[in-house]
Amino acid sequence: MCKLEQHNPGGSLKDRIALHMIEKAEREGRLKPGDVIVDISSGNTGIGEAMVAAAKGYKCIIAMPEAPVMYERYLTCRMLGAEVHLLNRVYSNEAMLKYVEELGQQEGFCYINQFYSDYNPEAHIVRLGPEIWSQTHGQIDYFVHGIGTGGCVQGVGTFLKAKKPAAKVPRQPSSLEPKALHLVTFRCLLTARWCNPVTVHAHRSSQSNRLNPGST
Ligand SMILES: Cc1ncc(COP(=O)(O)O)c(C=O)c1O
Repeated sequence: MCKLEQHNPGGSLKDRIALHMIEKAEREGRLKPGDVIVDISSGNTGIGEAMVAAAKGYKCIIAMPEAPVMYERYLTCRMLGAEVHLLNRVYSNEAMLKYVEELGQQEGFCYINQFYSDYNPEAHIVRLGPEIWSQTHGQIDYFVHGIGTGGCVQGVGTFLKAKKPAAKVPRQPSSLEPKALHLVTFRCLLTARWCNPVTVHAHRSSQSNRLNPGST
C-alpha cells in the first residue's frame, strides 16, 4: 500500500507538522498575533509553514539552503507570502542552524525549529499514524519512509509500536533484511532522529561561521 501525501494542500506530508507545530506555539504563548514565524527548511516544511502563516495572518521567514533543485520550493514559499533567506552553500549545517536560531531569538520572532521540535513527531503520532492504521485496517507489516528530520518515521513508528507491542523495530536500516519481508508483524525503520538538514554543505564548514543570505 502506498499513501500519497502530495494531496495535502501544500503538496507534502510536511503540511501536517507545519500546522501542528505552529498551533502548539500559539497555545503555549510563544507565537502571538503580529509575530514572525521563522524556520529552516529545504523546502517542503517551509511551504507548509508559509501556507499556515498566510492562513493565520502571520509573517513568515524561511531560511533555505541555496541549491538550484530547490527553486520551485523557493518560488512556492514566495508565492505564499513568505520571505526566503537563501543560505549560501559554502556554509556548514551548524552555521545555517545558528543563523536561523539567532534570527528567531529576536523580539517578535518565533523559531519553530522542525529539526528539534517534539511536535514534529507528535504530529505523526496524532494524525498520520492513526490514518495509516485505519486505512490499512491494522494490516501493516512494514512502514517504509524516507528520512529527513526523522520526525515522520519516529512519530508513525511510535504509534504503530503502541498498537502492536510485539512488533520488532530495528534501530538501524541495516537490520531490516530482505528475508524478513514475509514476517507478519510490521517493522519500522527507526534511525537517528535528527539527521543533518543539508549534508552537501558540511565539508566547507571551516571557511566561515557567518552567513550571507540573499534576503528576498
Ligand atoms: C516531502 C517530504 N516527505 C518526507 C520527508 C522526510 O520526513 P521527515 O523529515 O519527517 O523525516 C521530507 C523531508 O525530508 C519531505 O520533504
